[in-house]
Amino acid sequence: MKAVVMNGIGDTDVMQVVEHPDPLATPGHVLVEIAAAGVNFMDIGVRQGMAWTEIANPKTLGVEGAGRVLAVGEGVTDFSAGDRVAWVYAPGSYAQRISIPVSSLVPLPDFIDDQTAASIMMQGLTASHFATDFYPVQPGDIALVHAAAGGVGLLLTQIIRLRGGRVIGRVSSEDKVAIAKQAGAEHVIVDRQGDFAQQVMQLTNDRGVDVVYDGSGPTTFQGSLDSLRRSGTFCWYGPVLGGPGLIDIMSLPKSIKIGYAVFSDHVYAPERLRTRSDQLFDWIRDGSLKVNIGGSYPLEDAALAHVDMASRRTTGKLLLLP
Ligand SMILES: NC(=O)c1ccc[n+]([C@@H]2O[C@H](COP(=O)([O-])OP(=O)(O)OC[C@H]3O[C@@H](n4cnc5c(N)ncnc54)[C@H](OP(=O)(O)O)[C@@H]3O)[C@@H](O)[C@H]2O)c1
Repeated sequence: MKAVVMNGIGDTDVMQVVEHPDPLATPGHVLVEIAAAGVNFMDIGVRQGMAWTEIANPKTLGVEGAGRVLAVGEGVTDFSAGDRVAWVYAPGSYAQRISIPVSSLVPLPDFIDDQTAASIMMQGLTASHFATDFYPVQPGDIALVHAAAGGVGLLLTQIIRLRGGRVIGRVSSEDKVAIAKQAGAEHVIVDRQGDFAQQVMQLTNDRGVDVVYDGSGPTTFQGSLDSLRRSGTFCWYGPVLGGPGLIDIMSLPKSIKIGYAVFSDHVYAPERLRTRSDQLFDWIRDGSLKVNIGGSYPLEDAALAHVDMASRRTTGKLLLLP
């Protein structure tokens, strides 16, 4: 089978398409034929050596996808050959086949197609964590969502809206405004220098927002602080684009609450993974959550997908179709 491996840590030139023997359905694992694999910003971080360094190189990239079960290993009773499944946080997803522990799998209902499933496992579960667990958005709340036309951003905007919240989005270029508005953002600020706070304060009559969701790196951090209302909540979530550095707790303004939200705290056990995924599937079925696939690539073009994602030109979800 074909797989996209990283031969070392670095730029996209460490990525290579190789022929590998098919993996085996070992005990507790399921062998899956991959129909679609998700591309996530996290994959860029893995390639740059920020995560999963405990797995030796060369290793196959990718953590998310959907497909059909080919075989099950000893002890597997929940799945059988032919079942459609999706997964997240399973290393080795940029490939034609993968062997996955049962604990990382969810069964797919007929009304969710493979590409939709591969588009929402990481970014959808992340967005639902932010808006339902980390800061449960209340009707009337105003949220500031950074990278509002990106994978997490578009899903987060919709989930905030379906909980009755209102969204001010921030994007880096004019051509992303319409897509963020389509997802439900009421106002969209175009900025890539970190100068958005003044506009946020104008839009909120100098009150500030109830919650800011910021995974956009050091440039936005101070502006996000300045955009919050008294006792507002700062949901920080973007390790790959870099953090603010050390923070003196006494320098934090306006009695705000601040924390690092991590999706795996939302789906820390297999039953949580299934119930939270089912919630996303239900929202898709009733039309309240729409998936926006901004680009799909053959496996051979995985490096191009990384270049495109880092270029800030992409919107929505990027997929590899093996
Ligand atoms: N904590 C968690 O559990 C968790 C889980 C999933 C993802 N994440 C994080 O969420 C963020 C979004 O991930 P995603 O997979 O959905 O990607 P994405 O939003 O589809 O793409 C990244 C977006 O970030 C912005 N961006 C790209 N390069 C940038 C740069 N150099 N500086 C500033 N902004 C840049 C761009 O938006 P603009 O150009 O419009 O600003 C781009 O659309 C990433 O930081 C990722 O690490 C965290």
